[in-house]
Amino acid sequence: MEPASSSEHWQRVYTARNEEELSWYEPVPGISLDLLLTPSLQKDAAILDVGGGASHLVDALLDRGFTQASVLDIAESALEKAQSRLAEKASRCIGSSRTLPSGSLKKIQRLA
Ligand SMILES: C[S@@+](CC[C@H](N)C(=O)[O-])C[C@H]1O[C@@H](n2cnc3c(N)ncnc32)[C@H](O)[C@@H]1O
Repeated sequence: MEPASSSEHWQRVYTARNEEELSWYEPVPGISLDLLLTPSLQKDAAILDVGGGASHLVDALLDRGFTQASVLDIAESALEKAQSRLAEKASRCIGSSRTLPSGSLKKIQRLA
């Protein structure tokens, strides 16, 4: 059997299971928030969660008033879950790495 590509693997992971069943699931990503939320971080700071999947980090940032939070992930199934959860806030902060030119992290801008 052919090994699955990375994107196929992750696409399958998020399709096959509910996010609460994933070993890395956190309803509140406390350590990430502790590391990010330094006193000097401005509410309009551009924050990109690379490999963010269906993580709730973006929810927590939006809830705290951050306006430039983005999620980038290879698995569209993960982004769809986040998109569905975030409803109308999602168009402002979700994007698939497959829609971006390869190796172009420096070109990533707001995906809305
Ligand atoms: C262990 S999960 C963690 C997800 C998220 N950070 C969280 O804490 O819930 C790893 C994530 O990295 C993503 N990923 C793997 N390779 C990637 C790549 N080349 N570009 C973007 N995302 C990738 C996967 O789709 C998956 O969502």
